[in-house]
Amino acid sequence: MLTQTHAQARGLADLPPVVNDSLIALIGMVNADPRPDKIDVGVGVFRDGAGNTPILKVIKEAEQRLRDTQTTKAYLGSAGDKRFTELLRPILLGDHAGDERIVGVQTPGGCGALRLGFELLAAANREARVFIGGPTWPNHPPIVEAVGLTPVEFPYYERGQGAIRFEDMIDALRSGEPGDIALLHGCCHNPTGADLDEGQWRQVRDAVVERGLVPFVDIAYQGFGRGLDEDAYGVRLMLDSCDEVIVAQSCDKNFSVYRDRVGSLWIKTRSAEDSAKAMAHVYKIAREMWSMPPDHGAAAVRIVLDDPQLCERWLVELAGMRDRINSVRQRIAAADPRLTFIGRQFGMFSMLPLSKEQVLKLRSDHAIYMAESGRFNVVGMGDVAIDRFIAAVVAAMDS
Ligand SMILES: Cc1ncc(COP(=O)(O)O)c(C=O)c1O
Repeated sequence: MLTQTHAQARGLADLPPVVNDSLIALIGMVNADPRPDKIDVGVGVFRDGAGNTPILKVIKEAEQRLRDTQTTKAYLGSAGDKRFTELLRPILLGDHAGDERIVGVQTPGGCGALRLGFELLAAANREARVFIGGPTWPNHPPIVEAVGLTPVEFPYYERGQGAIRFEDMIDALRSGEPGDIALLHGCCHNPTGADLDEGQWRQVRDAVVERGLVPFVDIAYQGFGRGLDEDAYGVRLMLDSCDEVIVAQSCDKNFSVYRDRVGSLWIKTRSAEDSAKAMAHVYKIAREMWSMPPDHGAAAVRIVLDDPQLCERWLVELAGMRDRINSVRQRIAAADPRLTFIGRQFGMFSMLPLSKEQVLKLRSDHAIYMAESGRFNVVGMGDVAIDRFIAAVVAAMDS
């Protein structure tokens, strides 16, 4: 029987070609460009004044301690490092840290948390629609679709004005039905650079509560905007007001451990019992996907957070990254009146007022790589490249 094959059998060769996630495709293009002075402002990693993404000193030290003291690499289980999530609680949740209705689990990065959170929501309600402001990250809609939910994109950003289409956002959320999901960007997370201010967060909260939506906050840059507490405003506001909240969190950026895949998923339900039940589903889903999250990065972050001195030094290193982001923003904003909006934004991302053709010309003529939408990482380049970048962008806007 084993040798019998079906005449119509389909194999791997029958797979359709894949259209790459545009961000992954961009990384490939940068790598393939041999020009030594290329500027990669496409990928979302912090670069320092020298143009490097160094390992934080506190992470180096924590890794050394881990190396010296770790006695086993036996499995930890689907929950991962429980002390890691425990230490993250107050940083992310603030005054909500003691709320037993909020449960967290370690995940492979923020993207793992996104997938896990949406899998959970899909298991609970297949009919839920997911409201997403566009433009968003290229992986958001596919993750939603992959779990069988329906993304509903609404316009979030007015390019010409560099402003949020807030009325459109509220109208879209008000069209939601109870149980639908509002995917919200935590601080510094929107690819346009246009974050909600506190007043807008409150209006979004009101719409979410009024329509009985489930807020799902994707927060990967806590500490890159104003500070750890200030940047968690949206997350905590939703926790103040909503019975059910999902949060996908990442330490990959604020601990600069990108490839180590360090993140967490947080769930709030109406009761500690319901949260425990939801978490049992989370473990089951995680077991079906990656079984257990990778340990090394989360263990290093745990060591930092567990040691008051290391933790203090992390805050200093984090402030250093934040200061660089904000100072490069001011430098670009000061270069041309059409770029002043960049100085009013926070975090690594912004969207230049460039057409696709202008973006492609920057690639071909200047080896400057950003997303076709004009989205770029303000700290994607070292200090020496900033003036050349600004000059090329201003010339492109004039062309
Ligand atoms: C939509 C989105 N959310 C969160 C993250 C957080 O990053 P990571 O998965 O590297 O922790 C990313 C990073 O690529 C992302 O694309």
